[in-house]
Amino acid sequence: MKVLITGGAGFLGARLARALLSRGELTVAEGGAQPIDELALLDVAAATGFEGDARVKVMTGDIAQPAVLDAAIDRDTAAIFHLAAIVSGQAEAEFELGMRINLDASRLLLERCRALGHRPRVVFTSSVAVYGGVMPELVRDDTALNPQSSYGTQKAVAELLLSDYTRRGFVDGRVLRLPTISVRPGRPNAATTSFASGIVREPLNGETAVIPVPRDLRIWLLSPRRAIDCLIAGCELDSNVLGTQRAVNLPGVSASVDEMLAALREVAGDAVAARIEFRADERIARIVGSFPAQWDTTRARSLGLEGDASFAEIIRRYIEDEGIRPVAG
Ligand SMILES: NC(=O)c1ccc[n+]([C@@H]2O[C@H](COP(=O)([O-])OP(=O)(O)OC[C@H]3O[C@@H](n4cnc5c(N)ncnc54)[C@H](O)[C@@H]3O)[C@@H](O)[C@H]2O)c1
Repeated sequence: MKVLITGGAGFLGARLARALLSRGELTVAEGGAQPIDELALLDVAAATGFEGDARVKVMTGDIAQPAVLDAAIDRDTAAIFHLAAIVSGQAEAEFELGMRINLDASRLLLERCRALGHRPRVVFTSSVAVYGGVMPELVRDDTALNPQSSYGTQKAVAELLLSDYTRRGFVDGRVLRLPTISVRPGRPNAATTSFASGIVREPLNGETAVIPVPRDLRIWLLSPRRAIDCLIAGCELDSNVLGTQRAVNLPGVSASVDEMLAALREVAGDAVAARIEFRADERIARIVGSFPAQWDTTRARSLGLEGDASFAEIIRRYIEDEGIRPVAG
């Protein structure tokens, strides 16, 4: 079978690709697992590190161009992980770009599937940002969407489109709403939640992390390793168990900034956890403060989707998975 990852050169896309390749198979229909014969990685940047694997097809192009999607998806494409996106801070700063990639391109992708008529599985990565305003203490999968950012709005509209294309039988869609993924290696990015990785990554590197939000702000967090497990498990879910509610909120850990620092102290010691500077940023605090701090994961867990046990576990996973050598004292 052919599998496509849009955003295949990105943080989660590249990790998902490696996980799928090491698994070698995927279940997308009755009859059990099928071998993955081709894994297409579509991104504006060329995915690297897959040179030795004949199953990988690196494709570069802009997913907002119909010809690029026509080349990437054909009737043999049985599963599509649609990850390509403009992240939250950039989508807020560059409205037209966010609309074009997060919304217009998502519709184009669904239209390509509709035109082919083969009803592939489409996994769409959505976000906590679809919620906002006055929320119940525990946000459920079916809590009303009320985004307070352009990124959240684009994700929410794309979610609804995926549900309708599923209801019409054009695709077999599933929306996985991701908590903030932490710890992201590398440099800070343009996501409004970038500090949720920087708070661990920079101090472990011997650098100072700048935190733009108050100490008591709580966020909902998941490790990259668990996120990838959930993306694959979510793709393999039987369509009937999702029914008319195609979106699932993935399990996570709810932690305040202070609790994240306490976990860092527990794992790496006082000197590392002291490498923090608070510098308020109203815009980031307002957007991130509109996200739910925790959601009800009963449904996700009943579907077999699992998160991490604690933020300390998330830090340990990062150190282990990325081979980090903490810079102490
Ligand atoms: N990382 C998180 O904390 C988080 C949280 C919630 C949701 N998500 C969602 O998960 C998905 C993956 O996130 P990520 O953290 O890996 O982000 P990322 O920015 O690392 O990856 C996104 C990829 O999309 C690619 N892309 C952007 N515009 C494109 C275009 N026009 N054509 C083709 N490719 C394009 C980028 O080059 C990038 O490689 C996104 O949909 C994101 O919105 C991520």
